[in-house]
Amino acid sequence: MNMIKISNLTKRFNDKLVLDNISFEVEEGEIFGLIGPNGAGKSTLINILTTLVEPTSGMIEIGGYPLDKNPIEAKSLIGLVPQEVALFDELTAYDNLQFFGSLYGLGYKLLKARIEEALEITGLLEHKKQKVKTFSGGMKRRLNIACAIMHHPKILIMDEPTVGVDPQSRNHIFEFTRRICKEQKTTVLYTSHYMEEIEELCTKIFIIDLGKEIAYGSKEQIKSLSNTRTKVHLTLTTLPSTLLLKLNQQPGILSIEETGRQLQLTINSNFKLTETISLLETEHVELESISYEQPRLEDVFLWLTGKSLRD
Ligand SMILES: Nc1ncnc2c1ncn2[C@@H]1O[C@H](COP(=O)(O)OP(=O)(O)O)[C@@H](O)[C@H]1O
Ligand SMILES: [Mg+2]
Repeated sequence: MNMIKISNLTKRFNDKLVLDNISFEVEEGEIFGLIGPNGAGKSTLINILTTLVEPTSGMIEIGGYPLDKNPIEAKSLIGLVPQEVALFDELTAYDNLQFFGSLYGLGYKLLKARIEEALEITGLLEHKKQKVKTFSGGMKRRLNIACAIMHHPKILIMDEPTVGVDPQSRNHIFEFTRRICKEQKTTVLYTSHYMEEIEELCTKIFIIDLGKEIAYGSKEQIKSLSNTRTKVHLTLTTLPSTLLLKLNQQPGILSIEETGRQLQLTINSNFKLTETISLLETEHVELESISYEQPRLEDVFLWLTGKSLRD
């Protein structure tokens, strides 16, 4: 089932086209990656999904509810972690959660249980009595996330949750995202301009740049869009010239680069490692090490747009 369905969404601010005919669907229970450089239109899209900004045209459904006709039902399914942290600095972590949780109308007992749960899942349990003003940027982020899940939303939208965050908090956020998806079956829309994060967390991805779709599909589908190929690195005990000739004739090997006793094979899906190994055996060459290098999403963005994500 689709938890989010966006069809032909366009947004103009005055004359400026910020979202240009965007369509995608987010399936229930997946971690969906929305990725693009700064100014791509990610936050605008999220603001439209949460009814903070009105679209110029297009259709949106949240959990099957059309957003324009059933905004209250649609919004009740969403937890939002905004790009800017919004917390009370003078209050403790616990009191912040109590405040935001009570906005969702949770009763006293449930509220207490949810506060403990949210603190635990974001790794803040031991800091619950600390005032927010003593928190690091990463801890504030995590508390902001905790505030967004107090009502157990079916959909969690996170807008660049790791910007300005220390590595430890970043790991917490990753672990949290995987856990909430697995344990509570939450659908996650995860936004970032760090390609490696999306690569690690998400199965389905939408790449946006200057309001336009650059690519959309599974991680594998998107990776196959670039000209970057999988490479195999081999270190051999010796390198007879006959071996090179024979490797060059093997199906699946597109090119070979040699440096000393090291070979770098650029391969496609026809490559069969067993055939290469038996070829080494017939040539009496031993394999010292082997490693694979997969194409990265970052390469795809560069290939499709001609620029790096962090320009
Ligand atoms: N309220 C607004 N009025 C005019 N332009 C805006 C407004 N909000 C965003 N924009 C413009 O829309 C573009 C996309 O911004 P944004 O959605 O924040 O991108 P991202 O979140 O991907 O960095 C930017 O060029 C930004 O300046
Ligand atoms: Mg943004």
